[in-house]
Amino acid sequence: MAIFNKKNNSEELPTVLPNHIGFIMDGNGRWAKKRGLPRTFGHTEGAKNFRKIVRYCKDIGIKYISFYAFSTENWKRPKDEVSAIMNLFREYIVDVRNYLSENTKMVFLGDISALDEDLQKKIIDLENDTKDYTEMTLMMAVNYGGRDEIANATRQIAQKVKDGELDINDISEDTVNNFLYTREAPDVDLIIRPSGELRLSNFLIWQSAYAEFYFTDVLWPDFTPKELDKALIDFSKRGRRFGGV
Ligand code: IPE
Ligand code: IPE
Ligand code: MG
Repeated sequence: MAIFNKKNNSEELPTVLPNHIGFIMDGNGRWAKKRGLPRTFGHTEGAKNFRKIVRYCKDIGIKYISFYAFSTENWKRPKDEVSAIMNLFREYIVDVRNYLSENTKMVFLGDISALDEDLQKKIIDLENDTKDYTEMTLMMAVNYGGRDEIANATRQIAQKVKDGELDINDISEDTVNNFLYTREAPDVDLIIRPSGELRLSNFLIWQSAYAEFYFTDVLWPDFTPKELDKALIDFSKRGRRFGGV
């Protein structure tokens, strides 16, 4: 649940840090609008900020980070905006490979079969190339929806039952967990949503059953490591009981 912050280079940081942080990277459009720029400029700034926050999380020793980059509902957006976002993925996926020092495992959450083939290939290659890294796991939620994830897990479990590989009475929470996109990661401890919206928007709905939530009005492109420090300090003061006393 919580790890001891060994690499602490900031005196303000608490000693107890979350093991797994989820970021809902929201507010890019409003960031651009405030400056009279097209929404896509906000997405570019958001992508740059993603890089900064990944680096910072690595520096302070966070083990698992998940970023909500594109939801199953985001296809409703104008075609131009969707393709600009997809191009950023292309650029930033390659970039992540160059930018991150080794030892970071990349995992994609979501149904990537809906993405263009070249992008799918980049994603599969990146996952394969980093699968043995252990220092940090970086999860990117692309065409991700929590409900879609649970429906997908259900289909796979049903198939196992149908094939006689699984007894229906043996289906437990762990069984479901093992078929989620996040199967290799522990539950998320802290979900951070910038931009002032107070909702999950279908992000990690199963995994956040006992997560702590941190909301801020700051827009994602303006969400600095200092803002993350504030969230971490807040998190360290929460009394987590998991139903106990
Ligand atoms: C989040 O920023 C990025 C994606 C959903 C891809 P938004 O584009 O939702 O920004 P706002 O909410 O319109 O400001
Ligand atoms: C959630 O943000 C999805 C991502 C950040 C990728 P949205 O901007 O799509 O969420 P809603 O529509 O405000 O709930
Ligand atoms: Mg939004």
